[in-house]
Amino acid sequence: MLAQAARHFLTCGFAEVKYDKSMTEPEALRFVGTNQVRWRRRTLIYFSGCDCFRLARDPRLAAAARKSLAEAGLNVAASRRTTGNHPIYTRLETALAKNFGAETALLLPDGYLAPLAAAQALAGEFTHALIDEFAHGALVDAAKMLGCPIKIFRHRDAEDLRKTISHSGKNSRPAVFTDGMFAHDGSVAPLRDYLKHLPPGGIVLVDDAHGAGVLGATGKGSLEFACVGREKIIQCATLSKAFGSYGGVVLAAHAFREKILASSRSFIGTTPLPPPLAGAALAALEILRCEPARRRRLFENLFFVRTQLRAAGWDIADTPGPIVRLPDFAAAETEELKTRLLAAGIYPPLIKYSAASAQWIFRFVISSEHTPTHLRKLVATLAAFRPRGVGKFSADTKIARTRRTAPR
Ligand SMILES: Cc1ncc(COP(=O)(O)O)c(C=O)c1O
Repeated sequence: MLAQAARHFLTCGFAEVKYDKSMTEPEALRFVGTNQVRWRRRTLIYFSGCDCFRLARDPRLAAAARKSLAEAGLNVAASRRTTGNHPIYTRLETALAKNFGAETALLLPDGYLAPLAAAQALAGEFTHALIDEFAHGALVDAAKMLGCPIKIFRHRDAEDLRKTISHSGKNSRPAVFTDGMFAHDGSVAPLRDYLKHLPPGGIVLVDDAHGAGVLGATGKGSLEFACVGREKIIQCATLSKAFGSYGGVVLAAHAFREKILASSRSFIGTTPLPPPLAGAALAALEILRCEPARRRRLFENLFFVRTQLRAAGWDIADTPGPIVRLPDFAAAETEELKTRLLAAGIYPPLIKYSAASAQWIFRFVISSEHTPTHLRKLVATLAAFRPRGVGKFSADTKIARTRRTAPR
């Protein structure tokens, strides 16, 4: 009993120490128009963030937000379990369930709380929580809610997951926690393989914050991309990325939705997302439904950037989403590329991505709304740069290269 408690503590601790505690607050950016930011009195082209359809500043979302503000106010100022259940939430949940092809949807105030709420409803039902070593912090916190030992498996490694499951005891009932698409490099979880190794009674909880709206033939996310059904998967997503609004959502069966309603403190004890944001999310769903050309443009832009960079000698991974991560290189070269990007009028998207990378990396995010001029400028700037380490991959990127690129 004591050994189990100690192991639980140790595994939780291990998942946490991977965060870089030395980070300072980055400089503020102001968005200008569709694809630019103001930074130190300069207007620069922006290849970052997760608003890959540029809906966050779409006037139709703003109009929908204003309409909902006029109708419902800024805030319902109560939990939905008490007096805060406005009809706009049901409208949005119905639209989300339809959009994702799920039995039901349940809104949470933000995307971070979605896996947390799902895991609170699953507490006590599993023998182990198995989590990808690079899983988002929301999943690290969610896994702790199960009240069982947590084990970490190697990043996107179905074989390591299989071994971890087989070492968990004969009758283990694992809950597997993974991102759908990983934000540090755009790689995706091999959900189909994970499901093959899942024993009866097991479940996969997917944080699809980055995959939802983007991956799969119709943007339903990483489940659609992997061509898997929903039977043993709970999909969580955010409305703050591809959908340009705000809020979290759990997409699951009716009975599971009821369970969250009845037992998840992060649902019961929180005020739902403000009605104007729900109104904006409804508008975003409608825009993406009526304008499939946006997703086409996104992948055309991505294809252009990838093929041009490869032609220029960059070894760029075949990941299916709009994220283009450059291979790691030395600090001096990082500074040099930063200077060159700024000279070309491009904001340098240098990030240190928590668990997945100890050093600064360049991660470009391509949008459906970048113009050919923007894309050509990016490609020309990177093509003219020759770091000594070019062509070197991280182990992570090597794995990602073996997977298919085309949106399904
Ligand atoms: C994988 C993942 N999960 C959850 C979240 C949290 O979503 P939200 O910002 O809507 O709280 C993020 C946001 O950055 C994320 O990248």
